[in-house]
Amino acid sequence: MLLVTGGAGFIGSNFVLDWFANCVEPVLNLDALTYAGNMQNLASLEKDKRHTFVRGNIADTSLVSELLSKYRPRAIVNFAAESHVDRSIHGPEDFIQTNIVGTYRLLEAVRLYWSGLSPDEREAFRFLHVSTDEVFGTLSSEDAAFCESTRYQPNSPYSASKAASDHLVRAYYHTYGVPVLTTNCSNNYGPFHFPEKLIPLVISNAVQGLPLPIYGDGLQIRDWLYVADHCTAIRRVLDAGTPGETYNIGGRSEKTNLDVVHTLCDILDEYRPKADGTSYRTQITFVKDRPGHDRRYAIDARKIQAELGWKPSETFESGIRKTVRWFLDNADWTRSVTDGSYRTWVEMQYG
Ligand code: NAD
Ligand code: DAU
Repeated sequence: MLLVTGGAGFIGSNFVLDWFANCVEPVLNLDALTYAGNMQNLASLEKDKRHTFVRGNIADTSLVSELLSKYRPRAIVNFAAESHVDRSIHGPEDFIQTNIVGTYRLLEAVRLYWSGLSPDEREAFRFLHVSTDEVFGTLSSEDAAFCESTRYQPNSPYSASKAASDHLVRAYYHTYGVPVLTTNCSNNYGPFHFPEKLIPLVISNAVQGLPLPIYGDGLQIRDWLYVADHCTAIRRVLDAGTPGETYNIGGRSEKTNLDVVHTLCDILDEYRPKADGTSYRTQITFVKDRPGHDRRYAIDARKIQAELGWKPSETFESGIRKTVRWFLDNADWTRSVTDGSYRTWVEMQYG
């Protein structure tokens, strides 16, 4: 079976659902259920015997070792992380604990488990670490997109903690021979995206008549990828990636934040016109910039395309329409995650 960590979060839950839509192999899902983890994302699997959920921390060595010896996974996909840049600026501690210490403890438990496998099992085993393009730092408008050999230059506590975890994963391959794979992906969007992040926040605020906050001048650029395409890429790397290698994954879809928000407003104007006839664009509000805000991310995904034959199947235009539709049709989901602790966060971040 497959061990997935962080499988109740945004990308992890999409991955687990996508896995069962495409494969028969069971999944053991280990997730601490922090504010970002949500069992509702996995509600459709409630009666599916192939899915086993365990609430727990990747940094809990005895729990992880026990699970490894009980379930004997042939591969691990590590999504578990603190993932929000703004939260890392307010308080880096959780990011250090989960992204660095947690990844280290998980790797150490995996190394011990892996060394006890038969030679054939050891060779077939994979540890796939899901990472981010933010480890490469920031680009100017003229720079070439990030490729796998771009120097690491993380600029936020979040990206620094992810960079540290990537280095540990690399070290476990070079020092101990654990067959690891690392993927560095650009910004995802789609169903179950937690509404602290730009796209779901804007959709949720727009329909509630609240301001749509744009940091600084809104001309920062991100390379957006529909989450289902990220899941396909991870499955492909797991199947055919070369141990010790890293793979950049991106959507070939560079957009300024302002463009993204305008697009969201225009789609909402079409799908759910406001009663007073005005556009959702009138709710756009420029707010204080994020400290150390990276200007541009862009992914050169030629390696994964050439070596593993993966490319995204959604364009930004098709993916963003599906996303808006999903959030409009699943307003209860958003309502249920924007609980008391979420409101405290919004109050602290936006005043
Ligand atoms: P998320 O914050 O939505 O989900 C993280 C999940 O990990 C949650 O379910 C949470 O409960 C769980 N978790 C947190 N700490 C844990 C711990 N110590 N032990 C076990 N579980 C724990 O994050 P996401 O957006 O789904 O991102 C998943 C992974 O993908 C992260 O590693 C992130 O760095 C990476 N990534 C995200 C994006 C993106 O655009 N969201 C892009 C590239 C890479
Ligand atoms: O690039 C991959 C990364 O993408 C992942 O590693 C992170 O886990 C994920 O959260 C995401 O990071 P970003 O910081 O790019 O995503 P976020 O949605 O927070 O912000 C996207 C852009 O929008 C960024 O330039 C900041 C801006 N922004 C964000 C918020 C929440 C705003 O202008 N206003 C906002 O209110």
